[in-house]
Amino acid sequence: MRIPVIAGNWKMNLDRTAAVALARAVLAALPPGSAEGVEVGIAPPYPYLEAVRGVLRGSAIWVGGQDLSPEPYGAFTGDVSAPMLTDVGCSHVIVGHSERRQRGESSELVGRKVAAAIAARLAPVLCVGETLAQRESGKTAAVVLEQLDSGLRGITAGEGAHLLVAYEPVWAIGTGRNATPAQAGEVHALLRDRLAKLWSRAVAESVRILYGGSVKPENAGELLAVPDIDGALVGGASLVAGSFLKIIAACPQRAR
Ligand code: PGA
Repeated sequence: MRIPVIAGNWKMNLDRTAAVALARAVLAALPPGSAEGVEVGIAPPYPYLEAVRGVLRGSAIWVGGQDLSPEPYGAFTGDVSAPMLTDVGCSHVIVGHSERRQRGESSELVGRKVAAAIAARLAPVLCVGETLAQRESGKTAAVVLEQLDSGLRGITAGEGAHLLVAYEPVWAIGTGRNATPAQAGEVHALLRDRLAKLWSRAVAESVRILYGGSVKPENAGELLAVPDIDGALVGGASLVAGSFLKIIAACPQRAR
């Protein structure tokens, strides 16, 4: 049984006032019990984590970081560690987002970050996805499987129990051009099969695999209806309460 997850990735947007207002608007529209059968999370920029967490405290909406250091502490100017994220109330952290991979983050580093998150009991949201050139040259499977394998190197099935995976084709992020349900479903099934090989079929069936890339109210329903798509990582459309809430409402209210 997999409960769908709708997570907002606010990226480097909003200011403190707008971040708090957006968190309040989402919370107000989702009183306890109203979004039953859907898990909701928000990943604000670092400086607003505590303020957003303050708004959401006591609710079921989780708060996550958008990245983390592979190191727990030390002389790493500008970095933020997993223990620091848990300290300010995060339960999740996005790891290996393509906007970081494109700026030089290797699969090996992503793997170390996943391990650091798990060591601090943060649930990683491991992002994988191919570029348009990779898709057009038939390399999608090889690319996403390499990213998954490297991201989870050394992670046991027990440690991976709270892992979330996000399939985010790079060509669909922020472009308005989402993957079709068939394109996404194919990659999700591939990723789940790999998790089954890595760990076990039972564990693979329990891991939520989200789709990300231009998810909006207009396309959420058809994407989320695909059996292997267990939710969405939402960028642009999560910055407006109304559209984020419509995506949550588009989630099939059923246990899988
Ligand atoms: P988008 O971003 O919804 O704006 O395409 C998704 C993401 O990068 O997580």
